[in-house]
Amino acid sequence: MKQFKRIKGTQDILPPESRQWAALENLIHEIMERYNFHEIRTPVFEQTELFARGIGQLTDIVSKEMYSFQDRGKKQITLKPEMTAPVMRAFIENKMYAQQPIHKLYYIASLFRQEKPQAGRLRQFHQFGAETIGSADPAADIEMIDLAVAIYKKTGLKDLQLSINSVGDPLCRNRFRKILQDYIRPNLNLYCEDCKKRFETNPMRILDCKNESCIKLNEQAPKLTDYLCDGCAEHYKQLKSGLDNLGIAYRENPYLVRGLDYYTRTVFEITSGALGAQNAVCGGGRYDLLAEELGGMPTPATGFAAGMERLLLVLQSQQIDMAETTGLDVFIIGMENDARPIIDKTLLKLRNAGYRCDQDLLKRSIKAQMREANRQAARYVLIIGENELNSGKFAVKDMSNGIQTEIKFEDIENFLEQQKLI
Ligand code: HAM
Repeated sequence: MKQFKRIKGTQDILPPESRQWAALENLIHEIMERYNFHEIRTPVFEQTELFARGIGQLTDIVSKEMYSFQDRGKKQITLKPEMTAPVMRAFIENKMYAQQPIHKLYYIASLFRQEKPQAGRLRQFHQFGAETIGSADPAADIEMIDLAVAIYKKTGLKDLQLSINSVGDPLCRNRFRKILQDYIRPNLNLYCEDCKKRFETNPMRILDCKNESCIKLNEQAPKLTDYLCDGCAEHYKQLKSGLDNLGIAYRENPYLVRGLDYYTRTVFEITSGALGAQNAVCGGGRYDLLAEELGGMPTPATGFAAGMERLLLVLQSQQIDMAETTGLDVFIIGMENDARPIIDKTLLKLRNAGYRCDQDLLKRSIKAQMREANRQAARYVLIIGENELNSGKFAVKDMSNGIQTEIKFEDIENFLEQQKLI
């Protein structure tokens, strides 16, 4: 019979690794709450046009990487490649602006991009992220970076680098575009094919090209931060002094552009030296014009998103275990069919009381069940055989010291309570 394989670029997250995921997700929920961000969940697919308009038709994501298809009703649908456009769509559609002037939202989501799979780059991947919608204040950008850093700190991660830049607004960008094109034009034939294409459509993306020869050609390129309008320059200045105030170290990278077209003013990325080519663990910035682009009222906004697979890879490389693996509190070994009602009731009672308990479901020998209790690192083993059924008492073995006692069936919860396991 044919056996099935998962789709290229996807992953099965199996135990015990799934415990790391759960621990990371708990930590994200906890820190997001502390910063007063509230969770938003959006559908896994959206109209293709949302991303084409939101992220930009000419970006790699939209032009090369989206999982798009026509559904049976002939509608163009796309599996979401990112969360910012869906969050803004939800904000506008649900008239969230009418409830309060500012919304602080966060998410943990599964996303899809048809990229070439490699370490840290998948076709289905996961991000956590946050968006503050409604504030134009640099304080919102600073809070966003602080939040991302706080989550990384809480995981125990070390050696991350924060890069920041300002990509200005359309006015400064238009002015800068000509200056940049004048710089590139004499050498245009030496740039890579992608950059040649970007020269007319989006020359700023040329600055962000990862091709070695393009990086060299860009070494003396003009910097947009030298051509910002007064408003954008002031915003950038306040961003930097806010980060200084919080003691958050950063590097200014005047060529940081980011691969999505919606950004205005602040952009930032966090990278890790522990990763190879795919070293960006987090990216974000301000996107003050996206709401209008998607048919809403002008609404300033800022946010970030962070790759969870990449974060877990770095944690692994730094030998950080997020999920303490503790064994079971109780394993019940039963040898008689007549013991079934007592086993079931005891398990129910102890589980309700909060103990982690398990039993044998394979009708194995007592020796094999004992081995299983050991494998599960159970602290106490309750044994119920013929003698115990007759006496109404469990044989209770403390696996930490091998000492065995007898405890009446109805007293087992009291006994465990005295041991203060939980
Ligand atoms: P992005 O830079 O496209 O930004 O993605 C953010 C992060 O998601 C990356 O830094 C990386 O860690 C992770 N990531 C992206 N693609 C993959 C992949 N194929 N496999 C594994 N991890 C990946 C955004 O998505 C924006 N929506 C961020 C944002 C939010 N800007 C404002 N608000």
